[in-house]
Amino acid sequence: MRKKIIAANWKMNQTVADTESFLTDFRLEVEDVSGVDIVIAPPFTSLAKISELLGGSQKIRTAAQNMYYEASGAYTGEISAQMLRELYVKYVILGHSERRQIFGETDALINKKVIAAIESELKPILCVGETLAEREADRENEVLETQLRGSLAGVTAEQLAEIVIAYEPVWAIGTGKTASTQQAQDCHLHVRKVLAELSDAETADKVRIQYGGSVKPANAAELLAQPDIDGALVGGASLDPRGFAEIVKAGVTA
Ligand code: PGA
Repeated sequence: MRKKIIAANWKMNQTVADTESFLTDFRLEVEDVSGVDIVIAPPFTSLAKISELLGGSQKIRTAAQNMYYEASGAYTGEISAQMLRELYVKYVILGHSERRQIFGETDALINKKVIAAIESELKPILCVGETLAEREADRENEVLETQLRGSLAGVTAEQLAEIVIAYEPVWAIGTGKTASTQQAQDCHLHVRKVLAELSDAETADKVRIQYGGSVKPANAAELLAQPDIDGALVGGASLDPRGFAEIVKAGVTA
């Protein structure tokens, strides 16, 4: 049984003050919740504040939204895995479609980040997903396979078992369009099949695969009830503490 993992991707939203008030409300909402992994990925500027407020809580873990693969050096604007570890960060989102599309990240670069994250004991949340044009051309499976093979090159089966994959169809991100539960389940199953080819069936069975793309309190339960959907990566709807808590709770019951 894979434990569900519900993660908030705040993107470039929430100041330190916003973060503090979100956490005050959110912690009350999830006080009695257990049996689900809760992760919040704020902007870098709020990571220190979240660590301070959570004070080593195991219940809510933090993620970074990106990192660079080098440990230190002349990389203006970048943040290393070691810097994140110092702030008790546990996960790091890598290869988000916004990083791929707006900042030109390739599978080769993402692969270097995945390896560096694992070596620093950060757990990658690796994002994959097809664009609308790719889906309309029936190429989603091929695109997912290319992204997975490229981003996970050199990752051992043991390491793979610790990685979280987020399947996020680009056409469903921030658009209000969600993949149908069947479309999502089909892609998750395909992702798991590719993971089995990269390692073995037993390892692929352990990997948690989140769905992302306009997840809301209203559609979370149905998505999370699918056999291969093991969590959600939530953008817009994660900015509201009550709404995000509802999605977290759907992960407990699913
Ligand atoms: P959304 O974003 O929930 O706002 O669609 C999801 C994501 O980009 O991770």
